[in-house]
Amino acid sequence: MRIIQVKDYPEMSRKAANIIAAQIILKPDAVLGLATGSTPIGTYQNLIDKYNQGELDFSEIRSANLDEYKGLSADNDQSYAYFMATNLFDHVNIKKEHTNIPNGLNENIEEECKRYDSVISTLGGVDLQLLGIGNNGHIGFNEPGDAFQTGTHCVKLTDDTIKANARFFETIDEVPKYAYTMGTGNIMSAKAILLIASGEAKAEAVYKSCFGPVTPEVPASILQLHSNVFIVADEAALSLCRTNNCI
Ligand code: GLP
Repeated sequence: MRIIQVKDYPEMSRKAANIIAAQIILKPDAVLGLATGSTPIGTYQNLIDKYNQGELDFSEIRSANLDEYKGLSADNDQSYAYFMATNLFDHVNIKKEHTNIPNGLNENIEEECKRYDSVISTLGGVDLQLLGIGNNGHIGFNEPGDAFQTGTHCVKLTDDTIKANARFFETIDEVPKYAYTMGTGNIMSAKAILLIASGEAKAEAVYKSCFGPVTPEVPASILQLHSNVFIVADEAALSLCRTNNCI
């Protein structure tokens, strides 16, 4: 794991966007694994700026998002499909047919999970997977549990996650209880992984993920077993790593 320390959210966003931009320049038809949440918004904004400056071309880029709420349609403004459209896809020249997100409206869980796994394998796997991290160490929607799940699956969200994500909804009751997510196996199959973290609320998750035991109780800890992981995190997110003299 390579930990890149930055000062704050704006610097994290610039550095992360530079790494993704390098991937796009090196491989114009790369498969990007994309993430949602508040953390990547600045990264996407920096990518849009680079696109507007004529530095990036997304026309051959393909993408696969980590997750989607079960029960939300792509035009629901709380869905991750809507998030991706408004925060990135609508502002760059990526082709809509090159973008992939689990279908939150598919009620047939087995069918949707199989479909999404086959989408990822038809793409030839992910070149660079962008990840945020939940306060409890989740990646995508792989919640703390007894075992690492390999493929796409449907998860029951923990109360922690529902509470953390309630800020995007009018009331906590509107937060969906289930989501489709790539499994840790899908994530670990990416050729390179870029995890971004900002703020004090992520300090414990970052510390445990990078320096604690590898355990499904902290899903992001499995990243320690991947040979090509970059973590771009700011001072607040790295505060526990620092006080424990790990960095
Ligand atoms: C959600 C997403 C994750 C994301 C996490 C953290 O649960 N499924 O992919 O990493 O939220 O979100 P934020 O960046 O808003 O803290």
